[in-house]
Amino acid sequence: MKKIFLSFAVAIVISSCGNSSSETTTGSGTGDTKATDTKEAAADDLSGNPVYQKGLSLVAKSDCLTCHKIDDKLTGPSYREVANKYANMPDTIVAHLAGKIIKGGNGVWGEAYMTPHAAVSQEDAEAMVKYIMLLKK
Ligand code: HEC
Repeated sequence: MKKIFLSFAVAIVISSCGNSSSETTTGSGTGDTKATDTKEAAADDLSGNPVYQKGLSLVAKSDCLTCHKIDDKLTGPSYREVANKYANMPDTIVAHLAGKIIKGGNGVWGEAYMTPHAAVSQEDAEAMVKYIMLLKK
């Protein structure tokens, strides 16, 4: 004798897999600004980087872009070239290059002369340099 078992498929939809796990920010942000780490991540999304934003706006406000472009050489070297040239230098290079922007000069990249920017503060010039350094490829 055959019994037909009606199997009651009880579909239990467990809908308890909401990904709303509370994102606890446990990272104790030790503000170590060592330039050793994830430069690639920064390069991928520079637009969200405050160092990038600040330097870019200062550069855009000044006359830098009449002589410099990011990728192409104009009167001055491209910012990418500058960033690559100094990529592995110690941090003191930032202050040095900032001083060069303020005083002007030539001889590192050729005969062309960078005009002095006496109205730019050392602090702002360093912010510009930090922006340029981020353009390293
Ligand atoms: C009149 C054109 C001109 C303007 C304006 C100008 N630059 Fe330059 N810049 C140059 C030239 C030319 C060089 C290469 C100098 C050399 O060979 O030593 C240079 C070099 C540089 C360097 C590399 C310096 C080095 O010693 O390697 C940086 C950084 C730089 N410029 C940033 C800036 C910033 C930031 C501004 C805007 C505040 C600016 N420049 C405005 C022409 C200019």
